[in-house]
Amino acid sequence: MSTRRKLIAGNWKMNMLRADGIVLAEAVAARRRVENWLPCDVLICPPSTLIAPVVAAVAGNDVAVGGQDCHAKVSGAHTGDTAAAMLKDAGCSYVIVGHSERRTDHAETDAMVKAKAAAAHAAGLVAIICIGETLAERDAGKTIDVNRTQLQGSLPEGTNANNTVIAYEPVWAIGTGRVATPEQAQEVHAVIRAELEARLGADEANKMRILYGGSMKPDNAKILLALPDVDGGLIGGASLKADDFWAIARACEDE
Ligand code: PGA
Repeated sequence: MSTRRKLIAGNWKMNMLRADGIVLAEAVAARRRVENWLPCDVLICPPSTLIAPVVAAVAGNDVAVGGQDCHAKVSGAHTGDTAAAMLKDAGCSYVIVGHSERRTDHAETDAMVKAKAAAAHAAGLVAIICIGETLAERDAGKTIDVNRTQLQGSLPEGTNANNTVIAYEPVWAIGTGRVATPEQAQEVHAVIRAELEARLGADEANKMRILYGGSMKPDNAKILLALPDVDGGLIGGASLKADDFWAIARACEDE
């Protein structure tokens, strides 16, 4: 059994207005409060408008808050963007970078993701760096190559197990209800771990958390979270319901 503490991260994406977001965050915090012991860290990544109220709603309950993106620059003329230090200042401890929806909607390249992760590190945030292949890439037999290339291109200097989490999110599994099989997930996670070892050494690679994301739900979480190289989940749709999100966190338990 690995010594890595699992991370269950909710990615709310562009969902929730203030009232519902606070209710959801309070519901997660309330569940956290009544658990005596839960073998995972819990993180909520709300839209940026709700970071402050979610930070307030979970305060004192061992639930972390993160951003969904940050700019690579420290400050300046970048209308509509958010600096990593601003997220930190608002109470975040994590930030997702390179989500496939950002790579697609905003044409983010590996180099941009790398710069954002470096900015997150500089601001004292843990960067959750997302990688994953499309269905066309999988069908063409390129899964391993694509994930290796994205990982190599997205990790900044100074990456270590304390400041970085990797999220493997096959694009074809995100929001589709089509989850990777345990074999598919473990295969890519093991490749990622091997790449991390080549880059950072065995010690850091063994400590670094690699999350699976893509249609993780209460009914498939247990088998995915029990895989040797799966150290948690990045959860979209199921993180919008407190009961489902919490059922996934509980699925870490009897591994
Ligand atoms: P999903 O999203 O759980 O709705 O598939 C996961 C993600 O995009 O992080």
